[in-house]
Amino acid sequence: MLKKYNIAVIGATGAVGQVLLDLIEERNFPYDSLHLCASSRSVGKKIIVNGNEYVVEEINEELFNNIDFVFISANNEISKNIGLLASKKNCIVIDDSSVFRMNPDVPLVVPEVNPHALKNHKGIISIPNCSTTPLAMVLKPLNSINPIKRVIVDTYQSVSGTGMAAIAELNSQSYEILNGRPPTISEYPHQIAFNLIPHIDNFHENGYTNEEMKMINETRKILEIPDLPISATCVRVPVKIAHCESLNIELSQPIKLETVNDIFSKVEGVKILDDPLKNLYPTPIDVTGKDEVLIGRIRKDLSNKNGISLWLASDNLRKGAALNAIQIAEEIISNNYL
Ligand code: A2P
Repeated sequence: MLKKYNIAVIGATGAVGQVLLDLIEERNFPYDSLHLCASSRSVGKKIIVNGNEYVVEEINEELFNNIDFVFISANNEISKNIGLLASKKNCIVIDDSSVFRMNPDVPLVVPEVNPHALKNHKGIISIPNCSTTPLAMVLKPLNSINPIKRVIVDTYQSVSGTGMAAIAELNSQSYEILNGRPPTISEYPHQIAFNLIPHIDNFHENGYTNEEMKMINETRKILEIPDLPISATCVRVPVKIAHCESLNIELSQPIKLETVNDIFSKVEGVKILDDPLKNLYPTPIDVTGKDEVLIGRIRKDLSNKNGISLWLASDNLRKGAALNAIQIAEEIISNNYL
């Protein structure tokens, strides 16, 4: 009989947590018991999963005595405290925060890219930043046939990456502005409705933001190329769901566009949508609610014989977070890495 697992979702009421619960249903994740936790504000709320009603609980230590998988998507402090506690109690923690990602003992995993990293996990597994995951999925297959020399990436990131409160703020600011009122600003340093903000997370001394440094360092770790030359500029845009990225990739050798198309027609989790003359290229709306990373606008870089440029879109709540987390658990189960 199929083994079933006891699972806890920390941050079950959040933007990622809600999608995670949808995916548990959609993918028939084999669970026996399901515990949904959130902040004290949500304790007692009822959430339906697979037709059964669950009451949101407060986190308490005893909860982890009999849990196999703990999915955390709340905030860095919760991840740090609960992640360490749950792993000490022999749970497998799949964490969406940045706190463990660069720890050499913690695998940072995109199952289509580096599933082997799961083999020697020590109880905590990190999922990458929601912009890093689709980037790694595009870079890996190119690098395997034509080693990458340099990457420049610019992101266009939706507000759901910040969480439920930012989605509400995009809606409320749009409403206020359309009704001739000044927008109320609290989630970002500037108005996000009818605007964009080239600033995600705090600034480092080198002039890059923390989000940009996460993309750089995490990509190097996942691809196992510690000195990969890569630069990123991350921009928050007034879109509800899905992150887009403009990539410029310099390879070791020139590459034909047919070869690029051929590679990506076979890559798991990536789909080509590229017929510009028919106005076909990935947009956030095309990819919202979808599992695949969509790529398009694939073209030769006119300034570099070994370069290509392309555009991608990915649902940041799915492949960028919840789906990647569930796929990691599925990979652990199917390989018996428990
Ligand atoms: P709550 O909904 O009760 O605030 P988002 O990224 O969409 O903002 O979601 C964050 C998630 O993390 C929510 O489920 C939120 O619960 C949860 N969370 C925030 N603070 C805590 C906390 N102190 N303990 C447990 N869960 C928390």
